[in-house]
Parts: sequence; C-alpha cells; structure tokens
Amino acid sequence: MCGIVGYVGRQQASPIILEGLRRLEYRGYDSAGVTILHEARLETRKKKGKIDDGLAKLLGARPVSGIIGLGHTRWATHGPPTDENSHPHLDRSGRIAVVHNGVIENYDRLKERFLAAGHEFHSSTDTEVLAHLIGEHYAKLNVTFTNGTSPPGEPHPLAQAVMNALKEVIGTYGIAVVCTDFPDVIVGARRGSPLIIGVGEGENFLASDASAIVAHTRQVVYLNDYDVATLTPENFKVSRLGSDTTQVQISRIEFDAQAAERGKFPHFMLKEIFEQPRTVENALRGRIDHDEATAKFGGLNMSIAELRSIRQIVICACGTSWHAGLIGEFLFEEFAHIPVEVEYASEFRYRNAPIEHDTLVLVITQSGETADTLAGLRESRRRGHKVLAICNVVGSTIAREADGGIYLHAGPEIGVASTKAFTSQVTVLTLLALLMGRIRMLSTSRGTQIIHALEAVPQQLEKILAQNDRIKQLALKYSHAEDFFFLGRQYNFPVALEGALKLKEISYIHAEGYPAAEMKHGPIAMIDEKTPTVFLAPTDALYDKTLSNLQEIRARKGPIIALATEDNTRIAAHVDDVIHVPGTLEAVFPLLAILPLQLLAYHIAVARGCDVDKPRNLAKSVTVE
Ligand code: AGP
Repeated sequence: MCGIVGYVGRQQASPIILEGLRRLEYRGYDSAGVTILHEARLETRKKKGKIDDGLAKLLGARPVSGIIGLGHTRWATHGPPTDENSHPHLDRSGRIAVVHNGVIENYDRLKERFLAAGHEFHSSTDTEVLAHLIGEHYAKLNVTFTNGTSPPGEPHPLAQAVMNALKEVIGTYGIAVVCTDFPDVIVGARRGSPLIIGVGEGENFLASDASAIVAHTRQVVYLNDYDVATLTPENFKVSRLGSDTTQVQISRIEFDAQAAERGKFPHFMLKEIFEQPRTVENALRGRIDHDEATAKFGGLNMSIAELRSIRQIVICACGTSWHAGLIGEFLFEEFAHIPVEVEYASEFRYRNAPIEHDTLVLVITQSGETADTLAGLRESRRRGHKVLAICNVVGSTIAREADGGIYLHAGPEIGVASTKAFTSQVTVLTLLALLMGRIRMLSTSRGTQIIHALEAVPQQLEKILAQNDRIKQLALKYSHAEDFFFLGRQYNFPVALEGALKLKEISYIHAEGYPAAEMKHGPIAMIDEKTPTVFLAPTDALYDKTLSNLQEIRARKGPIIALATEDNTRIAAHVDDVIHVPGTLEAVFPLLAILPLQLLAYHIAVARGCDVDKPRNLAKSVTVE
C-alpha cells in the first residue's frame, strides 16, 4: 500500500505535505514525491528511497512554494522503486498531476490505447496511465474558463473528468488530483483504498489515514467506495460516481498528534511495545461487568439471543492478526465450547468452505484495510453470514462494512511489525469469549477468575518491561544466529508463531514456530549448537511434558532460552537462559508471554542494524491481493 496527502488552503503546502508523508511512511517507503501548484505550473520533486534520504533533501535543495499540492510515499506494485516510477505522475499535457494508492488492473490495455495515439510515458507504473486517462477526459470536456466553477449541482470540471475516467478503470484506487487550470481545487476519489477528508478552517486535506493530518485537524470525513470529493480552501463536496452528491458525516479522530509521534523512543515499534500496559487497559475499559462476571460491548449489533444461537465461529485474518485468531480459537472453545475454524483470509476467500447458517464470521485486522481480509468479509456477507470485525482503525473499510464489531482503541500503530495491536486483539477476544461463555455454561466464579486475571495484565506487563535491558543483553548474545525455533503448547503455540514472525520480519533471521511436541516429527533435525530455541514453558498442566521436549533439544546441543513463570527456579539448570514472567491463567498467559518475544526480536534487529520500523519488502497494511 502507499500513502497519499493533499492540501489546499492558505499555508505553504510543501512542509505540510512532507510532514504528512512522514506520518504515512509506514504504509510504504520505496520512494516519495510531491507536486505543488505554483503560478499555474506544477512543480514536482520526487525521489527513490525513504523520505529523509531522498525527497526531504531534494526539497531542501530546491524548495517549492504554493498553497495547494499533493504528496505520495510508495510501496511499489507496478514498476520497481525508481525516481521515474515515484509519484506524482502527470498527464500528457503536463497540466494534471495524480497520486494513487491501489492497483489499476486494466492499465495495460489503456496504455496500449494511449501509445497507439502517440502518448509518451516516463514510467512503468499503472498510475501514470490513470493520469493520462484523466487528462484525456478533461480535454474532452473543453472547459471554457468561467473561473473554473460549474453550474450549481454540477460536478466541478476536474471532478467530472475524474469521474468519467474512473468509469473506465478496473481495480482499486485512492487518488488525489490537481490541475493547473484550477489553482484552488483538489479532487479525491476512492474505491478499495482508504481516503479521508481532513476538514480545516480555511484549508482542507486529503489523506490515506488520519495520522497524516491529525496535527492540523481532528475533524474528518471517511470517504466510501465510489465517493468523489472536491476540495477548496473554504469548502468540500462529496459526489458519488454515477450519481449526485452524497450525505457526509464529519467524525472526530479519537487520538491526538502525539500518539502518531515517536516521542523519546528510537523506533515506533519500541514505543508501541511500551504502550501495551495502557493499550490493554484501553481494550478492557468499559467492557467488564463485574456484577455479572461477564463482558459487554457497544457495537456488536447482535442481541444476546443471536449470540447464543451461534453454533460455530470462523475467524478470518492475516499475519499477526491470524495468530491472535488462533488464540481466539482456544478461548472460544474453552470458555464457550463453540467450535472454531481459523482461516488465512487469502485462502478462505477462494475456498468453498461448508459453513452452516448459524456460523459467526469474525474478521481480525489492525488496519481495517487488508485486501484479503476485506475479501473474506465480503464473501461471508455475500453468503448471508453475520460478520463482526475486531479492528483498530476507526472508520476503516472493514470496520464500516462489517455488521458490527469491536474497536481496539490502541491508537495508531505505526511500526510495520504489529505489537500493541496483537495484545489488544487477544484482550478483546478474551472478553468476547467470556461473554459467549457466560451466556452459555461458564460459571460466575470462572468468569470472575478470568476478569481478575485480565485486570492484572497491565501491571504484569509493566513488570516485564522492567526487564528490557536484560532482554537486550540476551538479544546481543543471540543476534548472530541465522535460524531460530519458537516452541509452545496449546495457548502458547500461537505465541510461538507470533514470536517467530516478529523476529523474521524485522531482523530477517529465519525463524519457525511449532507446537513443542511437534519437533520430534521432523523439525528437530534442524537443531544444532548454532540454532537457538525459545521455549514457552509456563508452570501449567503440561509443564512436565514441555520439559521433556526441552530435554530433547538439549540432548542435541541446541541453545535454549526458556520463558518461565517467575516462581520456577529449577528450569535454569536445563537451559542456557531464562526469562521469567508473572504467573497467570493459561488462557491469559499469551498476553504476557508475547512481550519478551517482541523485545527480543526488536533488540536483535537493532543489533543487526536493521530498519525496525520499515523492514525491507514490507508495508504496514497489505491493501493489494
Ligand atoms: C504483523 O507484524 C505484520 N506486519 C502483518 O502480518 C500484519 O499482521 C498483517 O498484514 C495483517 O494486517 P492487519 O491486521 O492490518 O489486517
């Protein structure tokens, strides 16, 4: 995915757009560019590489002035990361500039048409083709200059050209468009990629998400698919592709500008790891009913009777959110005796899974924009199933298309490697499983026990965070390994998977998570003195069996880092290193166990000189299939 920003107002556009792009860089950082409309000319600066390495230096050397402009930070889909492929892209006339997040699936056929008509292209991107398409439709309008306005009720000429062009487009887009003929107008449009209007005073913004503009305004309009927005400094209008204007609702961003800043931390990921005591509290806040020993939610849009009629749950997610879903499986099955299937969204959407009518589909997503998860939601709704979303980004596409849902209230997660979203997802899943259990057979005393264990988590996380320096030392000891195993049983198997993913995606070390007992069925062949294993070994019902698995690794000289309950002093004799965490219920232990693994991955990646917040090849939310 990419990040786009547009500005029209009274201030200089360039610094506002550049700062907005920095807030969106987690969405893609292969290249970046801006176009500022100045004295009826489009001044463009664009450069391969991260903003501070490329675009910022370019603008410092060759600043541009003007009060309207567009910016883009790219995660390459069509065409490698190069200066030429960076956005913005211009139409044939050079009077229209476009920035785009998404994929134009029929760009090749459009490009053939333009090449046959003599158009020249300077990039291998689909977006440049879109710019030419908009330019072609604009030319057909033969706009006569009545100061660029349009008769009341009619779309602005530039908006009309954009609408006419988009009717020919197959694919997804979140775009912003400017034209030298209209020095105070920006047009935005979306289908399948997020786009919001930031409503200011004497200025208006377009952005891929709220973090880009929260420093300027907290009033936003979340655009829907097929919306086309026309912005001037004093006003904005939203039309629907193919129809007239549409009702818009102005919402308030729930976090402030500081939440989208790194503060005293060297990386967003470390900041977000350290935020977890607060974000778990946020996930719990207002959702516990102590008297009834149950949980309560405001946005499920399902009655207790409907929830009680659920006979199966299908969880659909990707990546870290899929790992949270695996923990959800254990929770719903233990607390509510409801069978659960956890599906990779990318697989689920194409499978013809036999799902009964009394099945609840639960989609889990931090960004609310993951294309595969959105497709899984739409496929489920198409078949008539209720879909609930557990999501972090308010107003995101998935949040708005689900029948109901639960927000994480974790604040913006900027680090590409998901951390606080995971613990908030698991917290919400635990609460939802508690509710589903308490309307079935779960006892009051068991419900109270679960609630007490959950309420102790923030303070227990603080206790684990106090070990940060020690875990950093441990990370340095193992930072040269090229292969890692993460092992855990039952609730801790998904934690092992998540710990492995964290290490892989930010340190580029090959890491695998397995059920501890599964090692004997092949993977143990990989164990040698150079291959460390992180063993999740809480003092629980299966501790003795876990210890046996641990001995099997030990017998083959595999280095072992054990994650053990703080009262377990005996385990040190069997392993190389121990990280102690507070004890809690087996069902709540994942919320504690993941924290040391996040810190371990973070410090190993830093020790290896990796870019923790912007790992190679990755993007924060995968809005392409
Ligand atoms: C997590 O560390 C990864 N960056 C990635 O797997 C992520 O969890 C996945 O892409 C799903 O994103 P979502 O939660 O926003 O849908």
